[in-house]
Amino acid sequence: MKHIAILGFGIVGSGIARVLEQNAAAIARTIGDEVGIKYILDLRDFPDSPYADRVIHEIAPILDDPEVALVCETMGGSHPALEYSLAAMEAGKSVVSSNKEVVANYGDLLLRKAREHGVSYLFEASVGGGIPLIRPFLTSLASDRVTEICGIVNGTTNYILTKMKDEGRAFGEVLAEAQRLGYAERDPSADIDGIDAKRKIIILTALASGILPDDSDVYAGSIRGITVRDIEAAERVGGVLRLIARTSISDDGRFSACVTPMIVGNANPLAHVNGVYNAVSVTSPVTGDILYYGRGAGSLPTAGAVLSDVAAILSGAAKAEFAPVFRRMPGAAIPFDEQRFPFYVRADGSAAQAREKLEAVCGPVIPVGDDAEFETGDVTAAAVRRALPDAVILPILR
Ligand code: HSE
Repeated sequence: MKHIAILGFGIVGSGIARVLEQNAAAIARTIGDEVGIKYILDLRDFPDSPYADRVIHEIAPILDDPEVALVCETMGGSHPALEYSLAAMEAGKSVVSSNKEVVANYGDLLLRKAREHGVSYLFEASVGGGIPLIRPFLTSLASDRVTEICGIVNGTTNYILTKMKDEGRAFGEVLAEAQRLGYAERDPSADIDGIDAKRKIIILTALASGILPDDSDVYAGSIRGITVRDIEAAERVGGVLRLIARTSISDDGRFSACVTPMIVGNANPLAHVNGVYNAVSVTSPVTGDILYYGRGAGSLPTAGAVLSDVAAILSGAAKAEFAPVFRRMPGAAIPFDEQRFPFYVRADGSAAQAREKLEAVCGPVIPVGDDAEFETGDVTAAAVRRALPDAVILPILR
């Protein structure tokens, strides 16, 4: 029997226990041994759970127990997840995390600690939930040079935007419904203001480039201001509105990363990703485009991803020395205002005057409909704002 500990018995942590029960035979076949939960660290007690006798409230027994080879950190938040993970690795235990916040903020430090102690730090579940997305960067794509990653990595906002389009309903109304159904948190800001997606694109940028962006390197746009008028405009432009996380990486290591609502053209597969689903497209000159699609959240899919890391470590497939190295590179980020896109632009007042102002700064534009609405060529947001400071602007992804 291989013994593991779970830090945080919430949605993902409790899902690990359920998947371990459901898939016990398959997991034992992969690892060559059974896996048992020896400790569950949580602030709460779970008197009605079959695991009640394993719940503890201090990390020390886990760190001191030589039988525990591996710790699953499913706490969320940076602290004390960071401190507990570092302490576990110092005690010679590998750590598996579903916690995108701690990986995005401290991935360089955590991976360095793992190397120093000859253990693994894996985080498949931190981006894309159940989609096998992280490990391919370290295996199948290891000899390739990823130049662009573009995707829908937040299920909550995708659900809201899908509903707004399909039912012609306002943002606030759909958000309230998503909260009632448990898709959106009571405080939904991390999802709807792009913060969750920003953490995920930070992690993907680091996997592709080796450079871990700082939080301030990546612009995060919100969907709070999206109106039914914007959704209808997207249809006129030939697409749908989606919250897109994107990074493009140049040969010198500089990257343009952002999270922003975009009009995604109907020819792009991302335009057809609906509801709580996630999809991520990865581009490299050798392989071309690869599209990953699946359930980006939820207890069982995310727990399954955690357990895939557990299996990789306990079966010996994940060799500690093949872990990625994340480093910081100040100045590597290209600010959002300097990133170039075609933009949808909507101004108030005279269409002729708006067009003249826009074309004076941005070059030729195409009218979209009868009002002061246009599609630009590849320009920066700064240029569009210089021309029409009060216009509604949305980047377009074809
Ligand atoms: N809040 C996240 C989402 C959960 O909506 O996608 C998964 O990271």
